[in-house]
Amino acid sequence: MEKNILILTGSPRNGGNTDKLANAFITGAQQAGHMTVKFTTADKHIKGCIDCQTCFSRDSACSIPDDFAKLAPLLEQADMVVFATPMYWFTFPAQLKAAIDKFYSFLIGKRPWKVKECALLVCGGGTDLKTYDGFVKSYKTMADFLNWKDSGVIIVPGLHDKDEILKTDGLKRAETFGKSIL
Ligand SMILES: Cc1cc2nc3c(=O)[nH]c(=O)nc-3n(C[C@H](O)[C@H](O)[C@H](O)COP(=O)(O)O)c2cc1C
Repeated sequence: MEKNILILTGSPRNGGNTDKLANAFITGAQQAGHMTVKFTTADKHIKGCIDCQTCFSRDSACSIPDDFAKLAPLLEQADMVVFATPMYWFTFPAQLKAAIDKFYSFLIGKRPWKVKECALLVCGGGTDLKTYDGFVKSYKTMADFLNWKDSGVIIVPGLHDKDEILKTDGLKRAETFGKSIL
């Protein structure tokens, strides 16, 4: 079945490791016949949630006028959400986290999601895979809470320079994973 896949990226480094990883996944997913939309949180302006509880009570998902207004319709149309991101301080970077915090508007505004599944693609500098455990746990807890099926996690460790992922099997793994989405 053709799916609408929303890829939310978290790196401010345009053309860096995460960007390449996201693109590899997209290549595979498109080959498998899916529609993909990539949304780069780092070049948008999304402020933190202020828990005003007025989500969807006016014209937009969030009462704070920012770029979440562009993301909310994409979330409403998505069947799958893929988080493609560097690990910052053992978790999501602030720009992506601000967008995720505003997922709250769908709960408060009682908006139905079509999203049924998700995936996590992570780049990191560290080579000890144990240091990624907290991040993966946080992602999986969120997926469980939202009732989204976790379709997979790809971790590409040991990346510092912008192109370093080219020396790894990360892109191949992400493309194969994209192709495997049913
Ligand atoms: C602010 C900041 C925090 C980081 N924190 C971590 C970390 O906690 N663990 C880790 O392994 N790498 C960390 N890194 C390294 C990045 O995750 C890594 O270099 C990644 O490949 C960058 O991806 P990009 O090229 O897509 O920006 C951090 C980098 C920055 C800039």
